[in-house]
Amino acid sequence: MGKILVTGGAGYIGSHTVVELITAGYTPIILDDFRNSKPFIIGQLKEITGQDVEVCQVDCNNKSAVESVFKAHPDILGVIHFAAYKAVGESVEQPLMYYKNNVNSLLVILEVMEQFKTKHLVFSSSCTVYGEPGKPVVTESTPIQSATSPYGDTKIVCEKVIDFTIQNSKSNAALLRYFNPIGAHDSAKIGELPQGVPNNLLPYLTQTVNGIRDHLTIFGDDYNTADGTCIRDYIHVVDLAKAHVKAIDWLKLQDEGIVEPFNLGTGHGSSVLDIIHTFEEVNQVKVNYKIGQKRAGDVEQIYADPTKANTELKWQPQYSLGDALKHAWKWEKSLAEYV
Ligand code: WQD
Repeated sequence: MGKILVTGGAGYIGSHTVVELITAGYTPIILDDFRNSKPFIIGQLKEITGQDVEVCQVDCNNKSAVESVFKAHPDILGVIHFAAYKAVGESVEQPLMYYKNNVNSLLVILEVMEQFKTKHLVFSSSCTVYGEPGKPVVTESTPIQSATSPYGDTKIVCEKVIDFTIQNSKSNAALLRYFNPIGAHDSAKIGELPQGVPNNLLPYLTQTVNGIRDHLTIFGDDYNTADGTCIRDYIHVVDLAKAHVKAIDWLKLQDEGIVEPFNLGTGHGSSVLDIIHTFEEVNQVKVNYKIGQKRAGDVEQIYADPTKANTELKWQPQYSLGDALKHAWKWEKSLAEYV
């Protein structure tokens, strides 16, 4: 099936995608410098798949080091580029760090792909590019708004760089716009590993139930939604990972120069209170939460119209919200063994 370079492959979505690539018969090569991930994940991948995965401990910004990986593997069929900083709040505090890392690492990958005539690129993008959409449900033709954070802006900039670069090349690309990835592999051997205090809802919630945090703060309950809390499209990380394999399969059948965005969501919106109540129900636990102030930059409601990915990529999410919340809790409880 061919070698796929997975930058950031030891990370949350990256590691789950490595599992699905192996299951589909591809040979993943992980390129990661572990600045935002942990080396023990590599051993976990072996336990899940039974296979050794080649790992190159490389910073994507280091062009000569990236070239060396391609020199060792000139037959790399495609690249799935996850490696990037992704914390919205941190990006507001350190914009230059975000632009420098997220944009420059992509430029290096594109340059080296061109040098080695690598055919396919799958780029890790985000629904953040839609900003506060006019309507809560977004399709790929929903206008791209000006970003509400440097993190979101790096995704918009990177999508444009790919568009202009690839359309005149002998490669093609898929821009995968994630909604809200949650949950973990059902083995509980890999999952989300937030560094420090979690920014995202699910890890903060599971750490609260696990006694690491005193309580969860709901950022605002007076939004213009049914229960007053924000609405998002929460998608199981394994479903998201499978979409990356489908994207590679799809690109292999497309013409050179093609660049296509795809919304990767379930098509269903859930509020913060929905998440809390469902989590309590499926895991038979109580979540200690308080209502707090709104968080700057939060979008009131957004969820995907995933029709394009469903039809063109032949991809359908298989896990329910309850499954994702069960797997998230199972992973949180297993973490004590690993960290
Ligand atoms: C979800 C909802 C919060 C924490 C961001 C990025 C996106 C992607 C995922 C990287 C919101 C509420 C959260 C808390 C809360 N990035 N919340 N209390 O902001 O939708 O998306 O992370 O992969 O590109 O934009 O995700 O999990 O931070 O928030 O009430 O302690 O939960 O207000 O409504 P978000 P999130």
